[in-house]
Amino acid sequence: MLILAIETSCDETAAALVEDGRVLSSAIFTQIDIHRLYGGVVPEIASRNHIIKISEIVDRALKEAGKSLKDVDKIAVTKGPGLVGALLVGLNYAKSLAYGLSIPLVGVNHLRAHMLSPLITNSDLKPPFLSLLVSGGHTYIAHCRDYNDIEILGRTRDDAAGEAFDKVARTLGLPYPGGPMIDEVSKKGDGAKVHFPRAFLEEGSYDFSFSGLKSSVLQYINTETQRGREIQIADVAASFQESIIDVLVTKALDACERLSLDKLVVSGGVAANSRLRERLEEAAGGRVRLYYPELKYCGDNAAMIGFAAFYTENEEDYLSLNADPALELV
Ligand code: KG4
Ligand code: ZN
Repeated sequence: MLILAIETSCDETAAALVEDGRVLSSAIFTQIDIHRLYGGVVPEIASRNHIIKISEIVDRALKEAGKSLKDVDKIAVTKGPGLVGALLVGLNYAKSLAYGLSIPLVGVNHLRAHMLSPLITNSDLKPPFLSLLVSGGHTYIAHCRDYNDIEILGRTRDDAAGEAFDKVARTLGLPYPGGPMIDEVSKKGDGAKVHFPRAFLEEGSYDFSFSGLKSSVLQYINTETQRGREIQIADVAASFQESIIDVLVTKALDACERLSLDKLVVSGGVAANSRLRERLEEAAGGRVRLYYPELKYCGDNAAMIGFAAFYTENEEDYLSLNADPALELV
């Protein structure tokens, strides 16, 4: 089964060839340099750039895999969640290809794909496991009993983890995307310098709330500036990072313990964070085994879309398939 997968939910135009669950190629054009000028993703500009790049990226994925369109058995495409205009570019391209080639089309949930992305390079990993999904738009703790049997235990009530990184970075004058910048800058800072709040919410809750933390950082900067003190960016970044990671690590490991799960699968853009990985490692001890995607599969990519299609999704009628910008994990 050779799947051609297409992903255009945000600011990466991506295509991949996945054969029987094995990734043959993964081509990505990232628009980060374009959106950095505006301090974040501009939806209209994202859609236009997907249109400009999609054919070239699909061709590159085919070429790198040594395949041609006539070898493809099925097309998989991200149907949501994401920016509606951006999603529609990939979706319509995929529909046209499937119709023209008379092959099936499958619409893939982007969040499910992130969740399963660690399986691409950890072939021994099988459900059940606990999933900590931390991306730019979503934050979930979920119990994955099987590929299609997922229970959400908690989610963010306001900002997603990646969004909090990006917003705090912007407050600190760091360029978009802020997550990797905070990760880097924090290595030179003292994470115990400023005590920012940890929002653990109600006893036993696996939900998250990061907007108060974001406001605290802003308030701290304003107060320090008013007092004429220079902001130590590395210390503030590291202190913010400790706060957010404390909550993520505590809740994820609590859930593992409560459900007697010995596998924790961390995915999404924030799974690339070096301090998060370090802290999880410390906290997990020998009790819980940690799984991550390879760094190249942490952020948005089409390999995870093809992979998820192989494991989970059903074929759909390509003429009725539509984008769902607010699609949930389950
Ligand atoms: O999963 P992703 O590529 O896109 C969404 O589906 O949202 O995640 C992007 C998010 C951005 O907010 C970015 O700042 C964050 O992941 N991110 C990081 C790191 N690398 C990317 N956050 C913290 N540390 C990192 N090293
Ligand atoms: Zn994503």
